[in-house]
Amino acid sequence: MKGATVGRGMVAHRVRTVEISGIRKMFEAAPPNAVNLGLGEPDFEPPPEVIDAICSAIRDGMNHYGPSAGMAALRDKVAERYRDRDPKTGRENVLITGSGSEALMAVAMALYDPGDEVLVPNPGFVLYAPHARLFGATPVPYSLRERAGYLPDLAELERLVTRRTKTIVVNSPSNPTGGVFPARVVDRIVEIADRHELTIVSDEVYEEIVYDRPFESFWGRSDRVIVVNSFSKTFAMTGWRIGFLVAPPALAPELNKMHYHIMACPPTPAQIGALAGLSLSGESVRRMTREFRARRDLVVRRLEGIPGVRVVPPAGAFYAFPRFSWRRTSSEIATEMLRRGVIMTPGDAFGSLGAQHLRLSFAASRPNLEKGLGVLREYGEEVLRS
Ligand SMILES: Cc1ncc(COP(=O)(O)O)c(C=O)c1O
Repeated sequence: MKGATVGRGMVAHRVRTVEISGIRKMFEAAPPNAVNLGLGEPDFEPPPEVIDAICSAIRDGMNHYGPSAGMAALRDKVAERYRDRDPKTGRENVLITGSGSEALMAVAMALYDPGDEVLVPNPGFVLYAPHARLFGATPVPYSLRERAGYLPDLAELERLVTRRTKTIVVNSPSNPTGGVFPARVVDRIVEIADRHELTIVSDEVYEEIVYDRPFESFWGRSDRVIVVNSFSKTFAMTGWRIGFLVAPPALAPELNKMHYHIMACPPTPAQIGALAGLSLSGESVRRMTREFRARRDLVVRRLEGIPGVRVVPPAGAFYAFPRFSWRRTSSEIATEMLRRGVIMTPGDAFGSLGAQHLRLSFAASRPNLEKGLGVLREYGEEVLRS
C-alpha cells in the first residue's frame, strides 16, 4: 500500500478508541544503557527444569496445534491448585490462554456489549479500560487512593453501580500500586457483586508475589467470579506468552469460543514448560519473592529519604507507586528522568489518580535501583532548590 497515513474510514471506529500504552511509549524512547525501572517483568530466568522441559518438547516434535482449551494435563494441574479455594474446581473450569493479556481480551469479548458499564480500578493496569471501550462498553473508574493504602472505597464502589453495570474488574496484588486486598475487602466486593448480580473479573497474575499479608483469591467465594492468571510472572517466562482462565462451568465454553477466535489454541511447547513449572516445589518463586522483598525495603527506604516524596510500602507485585509534590507533573518528572538515563513510568498512564505519581519497578538489580534512586534524589533536590 502506498503512503504512510491511514485514511479516515479505513479502520474501524474502535481503533481510535484506544492508544498504545504509555508504558510502551516510555520504553521505546529510552536511550541505550538507561537504568530501567520501568520493567513489568521479573529480571530472572525461568527455572532450569522448565527450560529443559520446553527444549525437550520442541526437540521431541511438540510443535503443532493442540486443543483450543489447552492440554488436558495442564488444565488438570491448574484445577488441582485451585481446589483448596473451591473443592469442586475441575478441568472444565480451566482454559489455557496465550498469556494473561489474551485471557483479559477473551473475557472482554465474551462479556461486554455496547452500553454496558465496567468498573475498573483507578489507577489500574493499562488493558482494562481500553478492552471495555473496544467492545463499546464504558469503563467506570473506582478509586484506589493512597490515603486508603490503595484499597477501594467500598461505599464509592457500590454508588458507582447502575442498571448498566455488568462487571467489576479487580487486581490484587495490584499493578501499579502494589496494594494487596485483605480478606475482608475481598469478601465485601463479593457481597456487592452478588447483591447487584455483577461478574467479578479478578486479575491474579501477581498472586505468588506478596510480602506482608497473605494473598486472597476471589475464586471460591462466589459463582460469579472469573480469574485471569498467567505463568509470566510466577516463572519469569513473560516471552513465552502463556496464561490461564478459571471460570464457572457455564461460562468457560463461551470464553473458549472467543479464545479460539483470537488464537485457535495456546502455544504447545510453552504449555509443557508451564506444566513442568507447576510440578516444582515452588522454591524458585519463593526465592524470587525474597529478593523482591529485600529490594522493596531498599526502594521504600530510599524514597522516604527524598524530599517531597511519599510512598505506601507495596505489599505485593514488584512496583512502588510514590507520590511527588514537586510542582511538576508525573510526565515531566518521567521525561526528565529519561533524559538523565533512568526509565520510570508516569502514573497517569494508569488513570487520573496516578497523576502525581510515578511507577517504579523493582524488577531491577539492587545496584541499578541504588543508581536510579540516586538520580531521582539529585533531581528532586534541584527542583526543590529552584
Ligand atoms: C496486572 C496485570 N495483568 C495482566 C498482565 C499480563 O501479563 P501477561 O500477558 O504477560 O500474562 C500484566 C502484565 O504486566 C499485569 O501487570
